[in-house]
Amino acid sequence: ETEPALGWAYASFLQSLADDPSMDGAELAQAIVDSYIEQDGRIIGAVCQCRDITERKRMEEKLRISEARYRTLFSAIRYEVYSLDLNGRYGEANAAFHEVWGSCFGRTIEEVIKDPGPAQRLKDLAAQVVKTRTTAQTSFSFVRDRNTLSYIATLSPVLTEDDQLIGLVGVNIDVTEQVAMYDDLRNMSLRMAEIQEKERRRIARDIHDSLGQHLTALQYELAAVVNSFAGQGDPPAALINAETTIKELITLAQNICYDLRPSILDDFGLEVAIQDQLRKYQDKWNLDVSFSANGLDPIKGSSVETVLFRVTQEALTNIFKHAKARRVRIHVENQAGQVSLTIEDDGCGFNTAAAKATSGSAHHGLRNMEERVRLHGGRFSLMSEPGQGARLTAVLPVETNLS
Ligand SMILES: Nc1ncnc2c1ncn2[C@@H]1O[C@H](COP(=O)(O)OP(=O)(O)OP(=O)(O)O)[C@@H](O)[C@H]1O
Ligand SMILES: [Mg+2]
Repeated sequence: ETEPALGWAYASFLQSLADDPSMDGAELAQAIVDSYIEQDGRIIGAVCQCRDITERKRMEEKLRISEARYRTLFSAIRYEVYSLDLNGRYGEANAAFHEVWGSCFGRTIEEVIKDPGPAQRLKDLAAQVVKTRTTAQTSFSFVRDRNTLSYIATLSPVLTEDDQLIGLVGVNIDVTEQVAMYDDLRNMSLRMAEIQEKERRRIARDIHDSLGQHLTALQYELAAVVNSFAGQGDPPAALINAETTIKELITLAQNICYDLRPSILDDFGLEVAIQDQLRKYQDKWNLDVSFSANGLDPIKGSSVETVLFRVTQEALTNIFKHAKARRVRIHVENQAGQVSLTIEDDGCGFNTAAAKATSGSAHHGLRNMEERVRLHGGRFSLMSEPGQGARLTAVLPVETNLS
């Protein structure tokens, strides 16, 4: 009995919705009966309600599309991408990550990265990011299927809008190929540096043995001609001039040989070669020089020795050209697998940042020194300020010795 009335109420409710222009194209939740209208104990109608869920549906669809897009992107990235919670446990990771490390959800860094070295590096990196709340990077190598792979790992903090740290997100990039290329380039540069030194040594020897010998012979011959004038008045001025020129040429040839490759370095090693160089500078400028060396025997004849000699040579030339120093202190020490060289002067000092900015154009000395040291796996630093003198330090590992 009540059905027709309900049917009518429901139909007119739907009609009212259909007539409402603001409902055009709207998606509606199913209508529900809110309450019945009764008369004389009979139901004659009902109050229905129906919610407009167009907006919700639209948002859900948008969310579904953006979720799908994000998923596709996440799994398509060929770099390994993952998240870590603040207890150092993995959250989500993409396919590239799973391919290398297997499943990781809820596991700790040590449980996933089983190699203790890389695991510790990542843990340290995570601790650093948590502490500083800034992105940080590290590199590590590990063996997989008998191949050594090199990675660069980047970790970034995930911060909420009100700046709460809620986790970390990481990216691992496989740089094995780039590292191999860098190693090839480095080895090539090292070989070139070695070849250059050999070539310098050969040219210095050739100049000494051919040009030098001939000039010396010429000097004796001229001296004999000059002597032949004994008792017959003064020898011609041109002859005396020629004798002076020959003397100058001999000194010039000796200097060229010395700059190319002082034989004293090959014959007696770094300590004596530096002493010899300092003596020359001392004679020239009356410098107050202090030099000390420790344990250099094991590096004799090595490429490390050559690098340190070249650095000393350039540093002293710079002090001579630019510093107006009164005192120079040099210390070389071989200890715990590395050789360190310190050269200090009390001269006018300079702005190192400004010097770096102009280096490579007209000024090559500083850059060459730094490149030589780095190429051999070492560290180079230069501290100076105008009016404060300068202090140069080069530290090289002894095991990179190739020759
Ligand atoms: N010990 C020093 N004291 C004061 N200034 C220095 C010293 N060493 C370097 N400099 C400054 O740094 C600049 C760069 O030095 P760098 O050796 O690169 O070039 P350069 O000596 O001018 O030229 P190059 O070495 O190519 O012949 C110099 O021009 C000089 O101004
Ligand atoms: Mg220079």
